[in-house]
Amino acid sequence: MSDQWREICDVVTVAESRILDEAPLLLCGVDQTFVTIIEPFRIHSVEPLRITTASEREAAIENAGFNLFNLHSQDVLIDLLTDSGTGAMSRDQWAAIQHGDESYAGSPSWFRFEAAVKELFPFKHVIPTHQGRAAEKIIFTVLGGPGKVIPNNTHFDTTRANVEASGAEARDMVIPEGHDAAVIHPFKGNIDLGTLELLLAQSAADVPVVFLTITNNSGGGQPVSLANIRAASELCHHYGVPLFLDACRFAENAWFIHEREEGQSGREISDIVREIASLADGMTMSAKKDPFGNIGGWLALNDDDVAESCRNVLILTEGFPTYGGLAGRDLEALAQGLKEAVHPDYLRYRIRSTAYLGDALDAVGVPVVKPIGGHAVYIDAKSLLPHVPPLHYPGQSLAIALYQAGGIRSCEIGSVMFARQPDGTEVPAAMELVRLAIPRRTYTQSHIDYVIEVVTSVAKEAASLPGYRMTHEPKSLRHFTARFEPIR
Ligand code: F0G
Repeated sequence: MSDQWREICDVVTVAESRILDEAPLLLCGVDQTFVTIIEPFRIHSVEPLRITTASEREAAIENAGFNLFNLHSQDVLIDLLTDSGTGAMSRDQWAAIQHGDESYAGSPSWFRFEAAVKELFPFKHVIPTHQGRAAEKIIFTVLGGPGKVIPNNTHFDTTRANVEASGAEARDMVIPEGHDAAVIHPFKGNIDLGTLELLLAQSAADVPVVFLTITNNSGGGQPVSLANIRAASELCHHYGVPLFLDACRFAENAWFIHEREEGQSGREISDIVREIASLADGMTMSAKKDPFGNIGGWLALNDDDVAESCRNVLILTEGFPTYGGLAGRDLEALAQGLKEAVHPDYLRYRIRSTAYLGDALDAVGVPVVKPIGGHAVYIDAKSLLPHVPPLHYPGQSLAIALYQAGGIRSCEIGSVMFARQPDGTEVPAAMELVRLAIPRRTYTQSHIDYVIEVVTSVAKEAASLPGYRMTHEPKSLRHFTARFEPIR
């Protein structure tokens, strides 16, 4: 481990978290000494942004029931709601779209897509879906069900909902450091191997599959180490349980492994990804993240019988197995995007530019989850708004204030998203976070400088922000369509 990492790491206890003997890269190119991280692309076509006034935003958020998902995106200036489907496609992806072949069955676009997926994830069966949650729906329809338990480092909201919709229990077991926003740990997304082993030793027969989310989105976009994936794989296979990856941000996770894990710095990113895949038995994928798709996903796995059951569900719900829920042109864009996602110049810029935002907020005293994650900066609203109790939704309050002040749309990842339990009770979430997700290749450094200025100014006034109560709550995934009012 580098001295720099040793100094900043309060907790590096797990044996698998051995860090590369080298400081985190601060250079913009491997053979240069300049510290400015530039976007490794130039702009090819532009979209105008609409500047709104404070009173327009006040009206817009009130009309939206104080739910940022209900806003018209035209009323948003900098949209950090999600990094999903919001990235800029490259010239080569737009060109690939022109090769889209819309044949119902056996299109050449399908074969290009399948080959690109297998190049990185050599699973036997690749099943295309329109996005990640469709892959989740299919696999949990086949493997889930009442009485089953599905462990994960942390389930994402749709993953949890799909597990629970099948009647199974979704159980989170990230390492304890993963619950503490302030603790520095290089692989805060690691699954707690002790807790996993306890479960498998007691009731492996009830566990049809173990999931690992790379990077751990709901836990701060934190990576999982290769050593942890390997150990989880050995554990699962010892008990005869398959290990699956929720791999939306696999390339960012592989970059963190490259940067932080002993013995990994000399490897190609694609090589690290293939090793991760080799430790798993399957994966679900939202191709709207790292593969630069505006839409898309897949399910991949090795087991022939499970694959056949999954294809049967696919045909009912998504489409024929050579297009799933996608057009031929989408398959082409993704095949190209997958190649771009593992390029080291891109990943270096991507991770450093996210850290640029996080480090700047940290420097002015805004509490953020540390170390800074891959695709987003997560503000710790519990610390910033200690006067707002968890079930008055401090994260929601902060997210609303960021919109009102500067037209920035972010996303609450806390009690609004997670507090409602399957038994109807409301239990505060482990953390109250506001996620500033960075769309890929979309915003420039000056946009981010503006975000830093707005967040800093809102943070200064945090003590005056109100709590909120829900005036309408849907039965499931309530954060998408709930309505709120401020508690004055
Ligand atoms: N798994 C993880 C870890 C995710 O982050 C997401 C989506 C999904 C599964 C579902 O994929 O949207 O294609 O159906 N995350 C987005 C987000 C929506 O904003 O973090 P999907």
